[in-house]
Amino acid sequence: MGYHRAGFEVVGVDHCPQPRYPFEFHRADALGFLSEHGAEFDVIHASPPCQAYTGLRNVTLSRFGDAPEHPDLIAATRAALRATDDGTVYVIENVRGSPLYTQIILCGAALGLPHLARHRHFESNVLLFAPPCQHRQNKYTIGVYGSRPDGRRVSYRRHKLCRVANSLEEAQQEMGVDWMTWAEITQAIPPVYTEYIGRQLMEALG
Ligand SMILES: C[S@@+](CC[C@H](N)C(=O)[O-])C[C@H]1O[C@@H](n2cnc3c(N)ncnc32)[C@H](O)[C@@H]1O
Repeated sequence: MGYHRAGFEVVGVDHCPQPRYPFEFHRADALGFLSEHGAEFDVIHASPPCQAYTGLRNVTLSRFGDAPEHPDLIAATRAALRATDDGTVYVIENVRGSPLYTQIILCGAALGLPHLARHRHFESNVLLFAPPCQHRQNKYTIGVYGSRPDGRRVSYRRHKLCRVANSLEEAQQEMGVDWMTWAEITQAIPPVYTEYIGRQLMEALG
């Protein structure tokens, strides 16, 4: 949605059905689709699954000595993006702890989502800029993750309340999204993030 708002014509690819996806959609393996169609696009954004790198997985490993295995697709995604075409601009998004060549970190509070706790890292082959984190100026933060929106407190950081959203509606409001289910929104990044990047890419593409 953010790239659309920045002026791009958007096509989405996922190997699972995404019935609420608001643009042209192809159900396909992302790497296969890239090798077949990658050169047809000016910009390719990839958000590979992040579960292999999250802090939550490390907590499970520390407590139980074991945690579910998740595919590590970042290196393969980067290689496929680089192989598409010399001129294709790419962006890869993921979480802290992932093996990205992180160029910028986006913070919801810096982009008009004052309470959202959702820092995300971005790698790109064009130069990107980011405003600094603004979380310290807010009284509380809200996370959008986990199996359900139960409002549970997750931590106190600098004496500020951090909790999970207590309803889908609250999560949608905090993320600036009104079409996703809970399962979908926990996997997503806010449209303001991709709009912010998309406007820079438009400039870079002239
Ligand atoms: C972090 S989510 C990104 C979701 C989406 N980009 C968004 O912001 O709402 C990762 C997505 O990758 C999809 N996925 C995982 N492996 C894939 C593959 N090999 N090919 C295509 N999609 C894949 C998952 O189904 C999941 O929807």
